[in-house]
Amino acid sequence: MTEKSSINYEDVVYPNFVHAQTHPNRLATMARAYGLQTAPVENCRVLEVGCGSGTNLLAMASSLPQSEFVGVDLSENHIKFGAQAAGEVGAANLKLIRADLLEVDFSDFGKFDYIIAHGFYSWIPPIVRERFLEICRAQLAENGVAFVSYNAFPGCHLRLMMREMMTYHTENIESPHEKVDQSLALLGFLKETAFEKEVYGKILENEFDKTIERTAELIIHDDLGTFNRPFYFHEFVAAAEKNDLQFLSEAEYFHEKYTGFRKEAVELLNRFGDEEIVRREQYLDFLKNRRFRQTLICHKNADIKRKVGEDFFDELKIVCDLHPDSETPDFSPHKNEKFSKAGKKGATIDHSLTKAALFYLSEIFPRSVSFDELVENSKKIVGDQLSENFEFSETDVEILKDILLKIFASDFVNFFTHEPQIASEAGEKPKADDFIRWQAKNSDTLFSRRFRTKKIEDDFSRQLLILCDGEHTREQILENFKRKISEGEITFADEKMKREFIENLPETIENQLRQAAKLGLFME
Ligand SMILES: C[S@@+](CC[C@H](N)C(=O)[O-])C[C@H]1O[C@@H](n2cnc3c(N)ncnc32)[C@H](O)[C@@H]1O
Repeated sequence: MTEKSSINYEDVVYPNFVHAQTHPNRLATMARAYGLQTAPVENCRVLEVGCGSGTNLLAMASSLPQSEFVGVDLSENHIKFGAQAAGEVGAANLKLIRADLLEVDFSDFGKFDYIIAHGFYSWIPPIVRERFLEICRAQLAENGVAFVSYNAFPGCHLRLMMREMMTYHTENIESPHEKVDQSLALLGFLKETAFEKEVYGKILENEFDKTIERTAELIIHDDLGTFNRPFYFHEFVAAAEKNDLQFLSEAEYFHEKYTGFRKEAVELLNRFGDEEIVRREQYLDFLKNRRFRQTLICHKNADIKRKVGEDFFDELKIVCDLHPDSETPDFSPHKNEKFSKAGKKGATIDHSLTKAALFYLSEIFPRSVSFDELVENSKKIVGDQLSENFEFSETDVEILKDILLKIFASDFVNFFTHEPQIASEAGEKPKADDFIRWQAKNSDTLFSRRFRTKKIEDDFSRQLLILCDGEHTREQILENFKRKISEGEITFADEKMKREFIENLPETIENQLRQAAKLGLFME
């Protein structure tokens, strides 16, 4: 049996998360980028180890009914919660197993196209880590991909320093939440009173700010748990190689990973050829003081390329929800236009075809488009504004590809191998998928099929989504709210507010449905 941590997951359950970067649609995209033909996302097998309550798998299972999902976790509470949720969502393709990874015999499970270990590898004893990599070797399909996140050095030296002080300070405290309070009190005190302000004080302040942002449950397990072992990237790769696995890429595409680096740093990194990718990535971590990695690995004999292949743009669909700041963007050459998302900095572009492409993508979001179709539509947009005879060269298409890849590193542009069923409008009988409605009932956050996360702002939005079951017409939804008001289920501070709310109700519902459709919450 695994050594038990002093605070176990039965006493304090780990929060439910959906980790977009572990979704097979993302993993398949990264695999395709580097020439690995993984199984089609709509018909694949996925294993998640240390899956917690399985919410991450549930998000996948509900939108990929032909694929099969298996989750294994040690905690009975986590698995109980997950099994109940899977029943409520009707995800018969999700199987959750309560077991210690050390004791599971996987020989009857068959191969998996995607294996996920999020928030697991650094937080388990060495023997479970070894077992996990053996499972990857034995259970990963020929062209399969495994996702492994872990705390990384050198950045995590600073986090470890805080952990060591926090655990020392709280070693005689029983209650997990009291441990958190006292840990934060210590870090707060140290940052205020540090003797040496120049370096140490700044480190303490920075680490305190990072720690206090985490919920108590995360601090309990991620910082104060029995195991927390960061790795240098090369150490992780060496452990994977011992199991005949190799580094494929990071889960998130950082094309412009040298942005902001000094010339000398770029020169150093460029000295390492593709055959020395592990060294290159390691020095990159030194330069970035990296503290967390999400690494993809595959079998050592898989034939992978180290540069994004030419066919990447032929095979994948593109999604982007950057919007032009201007209501009437100018597509003429050399005229800068800014594209951004909800106040966040996006991109400033002066290239005609790219401006038109981003404009087109924003208009069709949450739908996606193939690259060829995107080019065709973008040319038309520029032609309509400037002149039908406006000429584009092959170089323009290459520039568009290059810029799309550069912003792929952000969350603004995404490439996908699989197009999930998403409606661009709410329709007469709006239908949010079962997982969305489950989240509306059970959570404060929504995770859409388009990988967008949104806080549920109020009870009205929550109830509206629950009613979007594909059975109720918009008229019935309106009547339902009116009934709730008349029966006192929805209450108001005074009569005036109530009257105004009822008057505006049809418009409020329409607006909310439109916004929800833009997030990709509805199905056809
Ligand atoms: C930090 S939580 C991560 C949960 C989830 N993967 C996430 O990232 O949101 C680690 C999980 O690993 C599980 N775990 C730890 N040791 C395990 C073992 N030996 N076998 C199976 N699960 C284990 C714990 O029960 C816990 O749910």
